[in-house]
Amino acid sequence: MERCGPPDARLETLKPMSAEKTIGVLTSGGDCPGLNAVLRGVVCASNNLGWRVIGFQDGYEGLLEDNLHMELTLQNTEGIMQRGGTMLGTTNRGHFVSKTGSGKRSGIEPHIIEKTKSTLHKLGVDALITIGGDGSLATSAQLFENGIKVIGVPKTIDNDLEATAMTFGFDSAVACVTDALDRLHTTARAHKRVIVIEVMGRHAGWIALYGGLAGGADAILIPEIPFTFDKLTNFIRRRSSEGHASTLIVVAEGAAPRGGKEHYRATTPGEYRLGGIGETVTREVDHRLNKPKLVKEIRTCVLGHLQRGGDPTTLDRILGTRFGVKAVDLIAEEKFGHMVSYQNYQVLSVPIASAVRRLKTVAPDCQMVETCRAVGISFGD
Ligand code: F6P
Repeated sequence: MERCGPPDARLETLKPMSAEKTIGVLTSGGDCPGLNAVLRGVVCASNNLGWRVIGFQDGYEGLLEDNLHMELTLQNTEGIMQRGGTMLGTTNRGHFVSKTGSGKRSGIEPHIIEKTKSTLHKLGVDALITIGGDGSLATSAQLFENGIKVIGVPKTIDNDLEATAMTFGFDSAVACVTDALDRLHTTARAHKRVIVIEVMGRHAGWIALYGGLAGGADAILIPEIPFTFDKLTNFIRRRSSEGHASTLIVVAEGAAPRGGKEHYRATTPGEYRLGGIGETVTREVDHRLNKPKLVKEIRTCVLGHLQRGGDPTTLDRILGTRFGVKAVDLIAEEKFGHMVSYQNYQVLSVPIASAVRRLKTVAPDCQMVETCRAVGISFGD
């Protein structure tokens, strides 16, 4: 059995918990379908134990304000499981950012940690459940190192968190990509076009890979497999010569041509937002296919935040609920500094620190990639 493993010195800073508890919960980072299912799971499981639940609003920022929290009850969480977004609000900006977009870590300011402790103390919160992705869980790890009793719940549509086989939100994002591809197939075929669809996923190709296979993409470009424009264009030419009128190319926002760099959109200084590779693929393929004479029309579709919005799939409702219930169990077991983790169909736990060390990316020779290749999908390599 795994054990929570903070050094002894740190354990001494944690006061023992009473039988009747008040626990806090917050949702942090980019939202994803299934967050409300976790909240409901937390509230139901806590209610069974006679515990009170306080929800902090707008992510960790709610810990810094006197009026950014609310009691979560069976009544006000009824019917939320089916809804996307988060009833508590969230943010991926603010005072607690401990990982910048470039992947570098930054420490949380000591006065922010002190304010957090004082808020939790004032409200009588015994332990805090933080629901977040890679950056938000890196923050949780820091809070735990500073003596705060934290349990993490992994969420992200990107599915890029180590130490869990899957995060909730991923399946809903994949369903969105699949649906978009179903729609794009019909218009692409009608006009005999090539359509490039840019999808999210940061530096990992999970959404592109799963959505691309499920939606019948002809080519999938992911960060883990560098592609070349020439190979991609030759693939489209070959498809045409074989009688395929249209071609759908899914490109992950973090994908890059061999020897090239990831594309970032212009943002405010210090902020990094991936995006723009879809337009580049379109331009480069167009140039190679259509100069000197137009062979095929080509269009770009950027799915963007559609992938994060909307109601959770069945799988994400179930996974979210199981994660929420397990997070409460972990508090009861006093496994602080641990994160809920999905492994072999079981919801277990791992130290948060083990989940934020590095990103989980697609192995270029994994079975999913092999399956895609077997059904004729090109990776442009
Ligand atoms: O991490 C989730 C995610 O949706 C990424 O796939 C994407 O790059 C990013 O968040 C977008 O963030 P924002 O909502 O700040 O534009």
